[in-house]
Amino acid sequence: MSFKIGNLEIENKIILAPMAGVSNSPFRILSRKFGAGLVYAEMVSDKGLLHKNEKTMKLLFMTDSERPMAQQIFGSDLKSMVDAAIYIDKYSDADIIDINMGCPVPKVAIRAQAGASLMKNPDLIEEIVYAIVQSVKKPVTVKIRSGWDVKSINAVEVAKRIEKAGACAITVHARTRAQGYSGLADWDVIKAVKENVNIPVIGNGDVVDGPSAKKMLDYTGCDAVMIGRGALGNPWVFREIEAYLKDGTIIDRPTHQEIKEMMIHHLEALCELKGEHVGVLEMRSHGPWYLKGIEHASTLRKQLSHAKTKEEVIEFVNSFFI
Ligand SMILES: Cc1cc2nc3c(=O)[nH]c(=O)nc-3n(C[C@H](O)[C@H](O)[C@H](O)COP(=O)(O)O)c2cc1C
Repeated sequence: MSFKIGNLEIENKIILAPMAGVSNSPFRILSRKFGAGLVYAEMVSDKGLLHKNEKTMKLLFMTDSERPMAQQIFGSDLKSMVDAAIYIDKYSDADIIDINMGCPVPKVAIRAQAGASLMKNPDLIEEIVYAIVQSVKKPVTVKIRSGWDVKSINAVEVAKRIEKAGACAITVHARTRAQGYSGLADWDVIKAVKENVNIPVIGNGDVVDGPSAKKMLDYTGCDAVMIGRGALGNPWVFREIEAYLKDGTIIDRPTHQEIKEMMIHHLEALCELKGEHVGVLEMRSHGPWYLKGIEHASTLRKQLSHAKTKEEVIEFVNSFFI
């Protein structure tokens, strides 16, 4: 089940995706506890790091219990990307430095010419990855999309450049930037990348449970799968995938009691890390994710969207699940 990124042994093939606003320390700890072999932290801006922006610096918080952990950076300017990577190399306990070449949001991909925008410029990609690899000790990984749009699918070419530049692994989110998060991921792109590079390939896009994880591994030959939206409000997905990949076991979905306890635990962990105000606000997103598929939860959803204090959230959750 294990695979290697550089010299780092990853105990299984199941990885938490970097998700801004989600893949923070409490969620990474939960994901590791439930079976993710490696967790990716949400992206941080190179410039934010270099200017020691308070919000950016807070995003770097991590604990030993979530390792192995990859810290992702984004940017487009060669020098500041390298300086940001050197900063992570020196001052963060992260095990891996990941470069974001897939973010589609306009603020990143259009205004900053970073994230997925880099897919339009394979020369610059190679230059950035090479310069970073030469400047840091930690293994470097890169996360890309299939291409900018359907007319310019270039993941294979880009992956080859990334391998040549010395990266230790590559994640392919098999959608174009133009697709955003809609439509189905095209796993043929992951397969093609795997067939054309020798570094580990992490497949990403639409893995939501054991069967879809196995299907992606079998179909594409990728070395590991990365789970994003399937983990929202669902840290149990990692233990489910682990059991299924081991021997086809389908384990029970969490009980209402487990969901209730998890919601309260997650809220408390967020409040401890970010303070009550932000913790409660973030739970407004996590809450509905935890309640997906649960009947008659619309009142609780509404209550959560108005809750202002931790005690209020706990009271609403407790009285719903009884
Ligand atoms: C809320 C959210 C935030 C995300 N933030 C990041 C990010 O910071 N860096 C990144 O490379 N991808 C980010 N992504 C993309 C995911 O890592 C992943 O590539 C995408 O969701 C596809 O995988 P999935 O089908 O398993 O969700 C984000 C996705 C979501 C839903």
